[in-house]
Amino acid sequence: MLNKALNFANQWALQKVSRDWIDYIASNTMTDFNRWFNDFIWTYDLKAIVTAIETQADGVRTIHLLPNQHWKTYQAGQFVELVLEIDGQSHHRYYSLSPMTAKGTFSITVKKQADGVVSSYLTEQLQVGQSVKLNLPQGDFAYKQQQKLLFICAGSGITPCYSIISDLLAQNKSVDLAIYAQFSKQKDVIFANSLNQQWPAQGVSVEVAFTQETDSQHWLLTAENLLVQYPDLLEGDVYLCGPTGFMDNMINALVAANFNLAKLHCERFVTVDSEDTGKLDFNVVQPSIYFKHLNQHIQLTTEDEGKSLLQIARQYGINLESGCQKGMCGTCKLTLKEGKIAGNQLGNAVYLCTSYPDSARIVLDA
Ligand SMILES: Cc1cc2nc3c(=O)[nH]c(=O)nc-3n(C[C@H](O)[C@H](O)[C@H](O)COP(=O)(O)OP(=O)(O)OC[C@H]3O[C@@H](n4cnc5c(N)ncnc54)[C@H](O)[C@@H]3O)c2cc1C
Ligand code: FES
Repeated sequence: MLNKALNFANQWALQKVSRDWIDYIASNTMTDFNRWFNDFIWTYDLKAIVTAIETQADGVRTIHLLPNQHWKTYQAGQFVELVLEIDGQSHHRYYSLSPMTAKGTFSITVKKQADGVVSSYLTEQLQVGQSVKLNLPQGDFAYKQQQKLLFICAGSGITPCYSIISDLLAQNKSVDLAIYAQFSKQKDVIFANSLNQQWPAQGVSVEVAFTQETDSQHWLLTAENLLVQYPDLLEGDVYLCGPTGFMDNMINALVAANFNLAKLHCERFVTVDSEDTGKLDFNVVQPSIYFKHLNQHIQLTTEDEGKSLLQIARQYGINLESGCQKGMCGTCKLTLKEGKIAGNQLGNAVYLCTSYPDSARIVLDA
């Protein structure tokens, strides 16, 4: 009863009072009692209350969240890190954010993974009224003022694409938008209403495809038909997100179509495991790295062998942005201007957290 009342009061306050005021009041009255009594407002942590939960598709839930006063701004396409205690263990997982509503809420859409600890909890156990801990939004999978965008996604990979498209449509931006969304079956379609009705009515070119339906109306995107289905592909940017095999096939198809990989934006939901840490023998050649955008130069030693470019940069006091540190989110991405690296590279884009020096001189830029 008390919890329900507190919950109601917290939601009311966050929707009626400015977050800056709540922050001012809470930080000036931060007593042990207040923290114990209401640890949603009297806290230094970013938290959010679950305000609603809806079923999107088979095993997929959209969870609506109202964040507390520590919430800051974000860009459509970015993700948040959720920190959850499940059976006494702390788990950190990332989820793409939907655009913020007028009521100050946003949502995440979670697909249950077989044996997945956190996705099972979020899709089966989480209840309205519970609060969850978050970290601030991050990620580079966002709109960059282009004129023509093609989103290629599969399964839950639609979530960041949904966020960017919804945001651009809400802003009435005149951008040429197309999406190819692939699912296993009809029952797996996420954001069906947007894909089937809303977006086509708003001028978005939408193609939904199924890998496990025998349905002659829909085609699957392949290297062979990519340029046939999207003849003006080379004129725009491509945003790609989905399972590893799907993404690898699409990247190969784009390469075969001579697509400029500088215009390809990728987000992966699973760790990129690269065993290739380079062939350079640091006892013979100790490479130098120049971070052009920061005008910082570092000379490596044998101690740096086997370390990722991100670890090396940090060690030499160069503070670079990073997120997942597992090659998924793209936050650490820089452009290779000179030299060679091993590991996680896509065109000239180097994912510093999972790539390694592989030539005597390396130049990286923003
Ligand atoms: C930047 C980013 C954004 C993300 N956004 C979303 C989102 O909007 N919606 C969403 O549902 N998920 C999203 N994810 C994936 C999410 O963070 C979790 O990895 C996912 O929910 C599985 O967590 P789990 O604890 O249930 O699985 P775990 O217990 O960690 O893993 C269980 C098994 O599932 C496999 N697995 C884990 N994730 C996936 C996956 N995505 N596809 C296939 N196999 C997988 C693991 O390799 C393992 O074998 C995102 C990930 C990243 C890095
Ligand atoms: S890809 Fe996420 S930090 Fe490098």
